[in-house]
Amino acid sequence: LPLVLGLLAAAYLIGSIPTALWVGRRFFGIDIREHGSGNSGATNTFRVLGKKPGSAVMAFDVFKGWAATSLASVMVSQGAIRPDQLLYFQLACGVLAVLGHIFPIYAGFRGGKGVATVLGMMLAIAPGTVGICLLIFLLVLFISRYVSLSSMTAGVAFALLQLLPPFRPDNSLLLVFGFVLAGLLIYTHRANIGRLRAGTESRVPLFGRK
Ligand code: G3P
Repeated sequence: LPLVLGLLAAAYLIGSIPTALWVGRRFFGIDIREHGSGNSGATNTFRVLGKKPGSAVMAFDVFKGWAATSLASVMVSQGAIRPDQLLYFQLACGVLAVLGHIFPIYAGFRGGKGVATVLGMMLAIAPGTVGICLLIFLLVLFISRYVSLSSMTAGVAFALLQLLPPFRPDNSLLLVFGFVLAGLLIYTHRANIGRLRAGTESRVPLFGRK
């Protein structure tokens, strides 16, 4: 039990690492939360600071979700949980990392929206489904050029895909968590939804289209 509790706490602390905030402060001397959309995430780092820092924040935020979720495998290998309990603890570790990213203990609980960290979490659990969601993300992004809309659509698509037998037969747990995470992403994007409805959401300059 101490190992399980310690690793669950570690999952939250890994998710809490405020990558965008620290990259902005350390290398550019700014608080990313005072620029662009005000979000401490990869998208806003791309927007405000450029491609290299944006890619680095993206990669590390995805890695956080993947690494935290993988702590469940350590629980199994250490004999702290049974192999048939793996998915439960992957979901617990992953959700804690995502909550850490959104409400980081190292940054006054003002974090990001959880997209990259959910992506990393689900890469560790259901990589095939994530691949399809990435294609959906890119398709919506190509058509709309809204990252927020693409993120929410991909999150909802992940949940809906669980309803199809080929993906996770008999796995109602992943279905429930798919919808919980999609709901969480919609919640963290509530300001974006307001801007989308008002027509003021910023678009990414894709293929020269400003
Ligand atoms: O990564 C979060 C994205 O979906 C929206 O970010 O900065 O446009 O609010 P942002």
